[in-house]
Amino acid sequence: MDILKLFFIIVYFSLHSATSTMDPCTESVCQSTKSSPLIRFPFRLIGRQPKSCGFPGFDLSCNYKSTQTLLQLPYSGNFTIEAIDYGAQQIWVNDPNNCLPRRILSLNFSGSPFTAVYDQDYTFFNCTLDYSRYGLNLIGCLSGDNYTVFATSSNEVVDSLSLSTCRRVATVSVPVGWPFYGGVSSSNLTDDLWLTWSNPKCRKCESRGAKCGLKPISTNEISCSSASGRGIPRSAQYAITVGAAIPTLLSISCLICYICSKVRSYVAPQRPIPEFNPTVTPQPMLVVGLDGSTIESYPRIVLGESRRLPKPDDNTCPICLSEYRPNETLRSIPHCQHCFHADCIDEWLRLNATCPICRKSPERSYPPTQDS
Ligand SMILES: *[C@@H]1O[C@H](CO)[C@@H](O)[C@H](O)[C@H]1NC(C)=O
Ligand SMILES: *[C@@H]1O[C@H](CO)[C@@H](O)[C@H](O)[C@H]1NC(C)=O
Ligand SMILES: *[C@@H]1O[C@H](CO)[C@@H](O)[C@H](O)[C@H]1NC(C)=O
Ligand SMILES: *[C@@H]1O[C@H](CO)[C@@H](O)[C@H](O)[C@H]1NC(C)=O
Ligand SMILES: *[C@@H]1O[C@H](CO)[C@@H](O)[C@H](O)[C@H]1NC(C)=O
Repeated sequence: MDILKLFFIIVYFSLHSATSTMDPCTESVCQSTKSSPLIRFPFRLIGRQPKSCGFPGFDLSCNYKSTQTLLQLPYSGNFTIEAIDYGAQQIWVNDPNNCLPRRILSLNFSGSPFTAVYDQDYTFFNCTLDYSRYGLNLIGCLSGDNYTVFATSSNEVVDSLSLSTCRRVATVSVPVGWPFYGGVSSSNLTDDLWLTWSNPKCRKCESRGAKCGLKPISTNEISCSSASGRGIPRSAQYAITVGAAIPTLLSISCLICYICSKVRSYVAPQRPIPEFNPTVTPQPMLVVGLDGSTIESYPRIVLGESRRLPKPDDNTCPICLSEYRPNETLRSIPHCQHCFHADCIDEWLRLNATCPICRKSPERSYPPTQDS
């Protein structure tokens, strides 16, 4: 009996170890801390995962202390990978030496599979006076004792600094993490750069919790093998659950919000408001919202598993009051930087041309027709 038991245990463990050694492309990390991104296809860690586990152009390495995960761009050198969203095919990168603005000045993605999710033009100025007194955000690592460096994406600030003694250094296109992050007037550009890749396409495979990989003896063809339930990482299971449940819940709560606000607007006049004159016929409801193309032109992001938020202190949708979740789509109003669930704000903007928070009126994408 005991021998039989022992036999089963041996068989179990030998099978178990056989299945886990059969797949050389298991996830890997540089450092087993929470912030170190998990590396799997299309990425691979040189020296820790065989070449066949990654897609060409997605090779990563660890720095010598294994504290950073590095991506080497053909013309721009090494960047640290801060986060990877496999489902959305997006990465966040930064400078290993903590001076991202310096790297931004010589950014070149040629020869790499990565492109910006959002580009925003920033103009760099080199000034002899310290303009941080005037509310500009100084770039510390580029400034010296006798000069200060600023970057701005605002045309007004560019115009006024051009009239000053500041020297214009360059205008570069920056793959910002979120448009207008760090203020409209200027930014010290320390926030991670946000990049995406279009090939290989593993979105569908990832969303099913299956395992994306190269077809055997192929260098660029993709296969999606449905991993067993055990093989699905907990984060993916969570993402699947959240991905399916939250949008449903969200759209329901947005709908309720919306209905509530409509009901409130109908109910409100019945409250005893001194100015309210019941004999006045209610004004016909005019649709004064924005058109679809204007709304679509506003920046939109899909939150990743890492839940990179537009602003650290801004994690609740002001319209439906629910917290932002991974895989939800957010939209920001460019003129005031406020951000919302896309579903909530789109519905709002179709009826009102103002930001629900600050009541600023966003401009339309094309000026009204001039009849003169
Ligand atoms: C990038 O990092 C890798 C690993 O640390 C190193 O071998 C390589 O020389 C670095 N490349 C550049 C351009 O610094
Ligand atoms: C990037 O670098 C390559 C090689 O030096 C060059 O041919 C290309 O023009 C550069 N692209 C940009 C946008 O600077
Ligand atoms: C700014 O100007 C100073 C000298 O005036 C120069 O040493 C420095 O390299 C310049 N910095 C940039 C980023 O152009
Ligand atoms: C900055 O200016 C001071 C005084 O004007 C001068 O003594 C110093 O050498 C300058 N520093 C640099 C780095 O140019
Ligand atoms: C960059 O600016 C932000 C505020 O916009 C500030 O919190 C942060 O400390 C600044 N970082 C550096 C390195 O100056």
